[in-house]
Amino acid sequence: MELSVQHLLGIKYITEDDIQLIFETADHFKEVINRPIKKVPSLRDITIANLFFENSTRTRLSFELAEKRLSADVVNFSAASSSVKKGETLIDTVNNILSMKVDMVVMRHPNPGAGVFLSKHIDASIVNAGDGAHEHPTQALLDCYSIRERLGDVAGKKVVIVGDILHSRVALSNIFALQKLGADVKVCGPKTLIPKHIDKIGVEVELDLKKALEWCDVANMLRVQNERMDSSYFPSTREYVQQYGVNKKLLDSLSKEITVMHPGPINRGVEITSDVADSKQAIILDQVQNGVAVRMAVLYLLASKIERNEN
Ligand code: NCD
Repeated sequence: MELSVQHLLGIKYITEDDIQLIFETADHFKEVINRPIKKVPSLRDITIANLFFENSTRTRLSFELAEKRLSADVVNFSAASSSVKKGETLIDTVNNILSMKVDMVVMRHPNPGAGVFLSKHIDASIVNAGDGAHEHPTQALLDCYSIRERLGDVAGKKVVIVGDILHSRVALSNIFALQKLGADVKVCGPKTLIPKHIDKIGVEVELDLKKALEWCDVANMLRVQNERMDSSYFPSTREYVQQYGVNKKLLDSLSKEITVMHPGPINRGVEITSDVADSKQAIILDQVQNGVAVRMAVLYLLASKIERNEN
């Protein structure tokens, strides 16, 4: 079995079989990282460049750990880049990568489509680690993997994504992944933070948080992406919390126990309170842990395609 793609640019471009293959491979790597010796030699001859043009903690560390546990050679580049222009930055990037002779590039960039652009200009395999408000495929894969782990399967589950859907790459990638795996997806949040034509991609909108939570098996709580907002989308944080924040009292008032997820970083007291974040209903740290195994799987499967091409 192999992936149908050379790059992981977005969930949009991969198939359900690809996702299942990534999950099965991640199951194996999850077992590996729980061993006393957490390293395997699988990517010993592969060089990976992590190019982060936008801030990141979890994703960058997670990729780096995944790469090191596969024994890849790793180079890191990070730049806070709000002032750089798309074309200039990426052309520079292309030239740097070509001269470094790297096999794979993991890239986070503020511009949507940056990974697709790069994939057309260089020979290396590209993994999109977040491109603006567009896609964040490995986050969606680790989210769905974590649902599968907690609830046995993703197919048939009801998942609501709550919060800033408009500016969230996590939302879009999750919607594509959940739908490909046969889950039912709704979004919930202030009207101003819901994309206008989201119903066209088969996603229902529920503006009432309590109703959304009553409906779902899983609630994925997103951070308000203040850094991507050019104006005010709701009157005040206090009002946002009142209408769209999840606290323990609200969870306990539901007729069944739901699972709570969050991609991080959490703004405690805004999208979820601390008692929810730290409760056993939340699988937030499982998501982080699964992130390493899922990224190992993605890198391993893409690398095996590179080797095949050379033969
Ligand atoms: C997310 C991101 O950067 O898109 N974080 C992450 O990768 N874990 C979500 C966010 O920033 O809110």
